[in-house]
Amino acid sequence: MSTGRQALQSALDENGGAIPFDTFMGIALHHPQDGYYTRNVRTIGSRGDFTTVPQLTPALGEAIGQWLRAQANRCGWKRFNVIECGPGSGSLASAVMKSFGWLGKRKVDLHLVETSEPLRAEQRKFVRGTWHSAIEEALALCEGGALIYHNEFFDAFPCRVFRKENDGWTELHLKAIEGKLQEIFLAPARPLPASTVFARDWNDGQRVEVFEPVREWMRGMTASWQSGAMLVIDYGGTTEEIYHRRPAGTLRAYRGQQRLTGDEVYEMPGRQDITADVNFDDLAMWGREFGWKVGQIKPLGELAAAAPGAEAFRCVSFAKL
Ligand SMILES: C[S@@+](CC[C@H](N)C(=O)[O-])C[C@H]1O[C@@H](n2cnc3c(N)ncnc32)[C@H](O)[C@@H]1O
Repeated sequence: MSTGRQALQSALDENGGAIPFDTFMGIALHHPQDGYYTRNVRTIGSRGDFTTVPQLTPALGEAIGQWLRAQANRCGWKRFNVIECGPGSGSLASAVMKSFGWLGKRKVDLHLVETSEPLRAEQRKFVRGTWHSAIEEALALCEGGALIYHNEFFDAFPCRVFRKENDGWTELHLKAIEGKLQEIFLAPARPLPASTVFARDWNDGQRVEVFEPVREWMRGMTASWQSGAMLVIDYGGTTEEIYHRRPAGTLRAYRGQQRLTGDEVYEMPGRQDITADVNFDDLAMWGREFGWKVGQIKPLGELAAAAPGAEAFRCVSFAKL
């Protein structure tokens, strides 16, 4: 099995010396031996590289608990399956389960979808449940009926990055120059992904991010998901909200609570988180594509009023009818 560095080098060699950004991000975050999430992340919160809303307040967990109870009522479920994807430190799942109270908790079967061994170990300190490596595996055990939620999960998927030129779009690639990865924009070698961003007029030079594997994740689960609802919470917004006055796009990394941009994003692959804003217009479009009922895109403040830092977050719900 190769190390992350070897995997990056092989990818560069196989692609004529330049790899698309999403290949880099996939290796840096998810390489089985050396990825940031798979191996190197210790925890999330003040002792980790970045902090998420659930570390700051139990209000988000309480609000999600309320949403889950409302959805269970709507589905007529007295006992039900709850799936959290990408539970991080486990503090959100813990707050959600607490919100059910001692008796209510006994009617909920909690499933956690997590690919990171270090984070699974952390989560086990806070919650009881059944862990899975893929949503399809969790849905199979739930016989297709489940209420699903996640916070800052989609933003950990690799994204493709594009730049508007006067005659179309180029795609961000990385090239090793004197041992350092450097940005270079080339004609996309693959078709442009399905995204709302390409339907708009942009100034030349505008950079945009598309989480193409999120669409594949949604497509992959749709056959196993028979009934229930899914609440998606993430950093981001509509296309308009994300890119208003942001010609350079939203790509960034986090290490030791520092926000890193530009070349710093490529400095320590596997040792820092890399992320971008999630485009909720794309999520809504993809949900409709798969025949799901799509709710309104809302500021997180409408779900959990007391959540600090909630202004930069949006949520949207989907229902499988
Ligand atoms: C940014 S953290 C989210 C933390 C947490 N939800 C919170 O609110 O604090 C991303 C989480 O998703 C997990 N993850 C990333 N990609 C995944 C995938 N494809 N399948 C399952 N888990 C994944 C990571 O290991 C991590 O637990």
